[in-house]
Amino acid sequence: MTQSSSRLPGFYKDPVEERLESVAGAADLTDEEKAILGAAAGLDTDTADHMIENVVGLHSLPLGIATNFLINERDVLVPMAIEEPSVVAGASFAAKLAREGGGFFTSSTPSHMIAQMQVLDVPNLHVARFELLSQKERLLDLANQTDPLIISLGGGARDVEVRVVEESPTGPMLVLHLIYDTLDAMGANTVNTAAEALTAVVEEITGGRVLLRILSNLADRRLARARCRVPADALTFQSEDRTFEGREVAERIAEAYAFAAADPYRATTHNKGIMNGVDAVVIATGNDWRAIEAGAHAYAARGGCYTSLSQWETTPEGSLVGTLEMPMAVGIVGGATRVHPLPKVVLKILGVNTSRELAEIIVAVGLAQNLAALRALATEGIQRGHMSLHARQVAIAAGAAGDEIERVAAQLVQERTIRLDRAQEILSQ
Ligand code: MEV
Repeated sequence: MTQSSSRLPGFYKDPVEERLESVAGAADLTDEEKAILGAAAGLDTDTADHMIENVVGLHSLPLGIATNFLINERDVLVPMAIEEPSVVAGASFAAKLAREGGGFFTSSTPSHMIAQMQVLDVPNLHVARFELLSQKERLLDLANQTDPLIISLGGGARDVEVRVVEESPTGPMLVLHLIYDTLDAMGANTVNTAAEALTAVVEEITGGRVLLRILSNLADRRLARARCRVPADALTFQSEDRTFEGREVAERIAEAYAFAAADPYRATTHNKGIMNGVDAVVIATGNDWRAIEAGAHAYAARGGCYTSLSQWETTPEGSLVGTLEMPMAVGIVGGATRVHPLPKVVLKILGVNTSRELAEIIVAVGLAQNLAALRALATEGIQRGHMSLHARQVAIAAGAAGDEIERVAAQLVQERTIRLDRAQEILSQ
């Protein structure tokens, strides 16, 4: 997707097969790759049986393409796997707004994961800490013996940090953090193995007893960032009963953000909206969305009070500027990203070559999703935009099929009664 534009006007109105052709053309997909998108997400039960235990079947989700994304001046089509209506449309709409200001600009830190070691029964905690730090090179060398491949590619153990935890329900303990560059892998297995390899030496140095050795999902050494600017003019729109001027919309969005910044109840929902976008891409690329969720919310609470992951401000000339920084431990090699056939195709559509590029796109999508939600909430309210999409789901639930779906949905919207019983009535008429 380096050449083609992600602006695909009318894409949402095309039949599924035509949309697939457009994406296949843009991403240069082979017939086999196209077939993977068309099938039950390309997964068969035999492959699934090698992925997890006790497999009896497959579970699938719709895969949509968010359009209009311009990220670091590159057009990107964004595959999103999600069951919720309005999310793909919202991301595409917000990406179009951001495009007016040059799109999204992103950056990221190296793929540094943290593996934790819990050391109990240490006779002299502070002395043991100093000892561990003074033998850092020995620990790093040992950690680097566990995965020769990642070392040959330039990754590996980078640092050791040690904290004294004076109080816990089981008494004091030492906590060692092994910082490890996992390059393009999410890296859970790599860092867990490296931490396990340090057990005997850490016990020898500290005189204590090592219990847990496991990565931390608070991946705050592996951050991705996205920012965008939406010119005021781009935010002007005509609602059913009034014109919203762009400057006012920008102000309202900044005020809506302030609510999330100040109140954890609102911040939770605000961040859920961000995660609508983030998770959909994380899932589509076969990454561990529970890890991303856990890291995101812990990061949102890092100051001691749960708050908004994003920030929205206005500039003196009335533009809206948004920023989002969050942990993003995703990989493009290893795990389901390479076993499940679909993520391979998704990564090709995204046109990414490194895990950092993927992480940055995901954060840009999270910021776009947040913008879409805040713009709707701070102007006409969320229900208006949701109604027609929700109506389609209600129509399907009532038993509508084929052309009936749009017909029943349209009538539900017109009557402003999005209810299952009414959909059933319309169908039976
Ligand atoms: C719904 O899935 C997400 C929103 O609630 C997010 C928000 O309130 O910012 C609309």
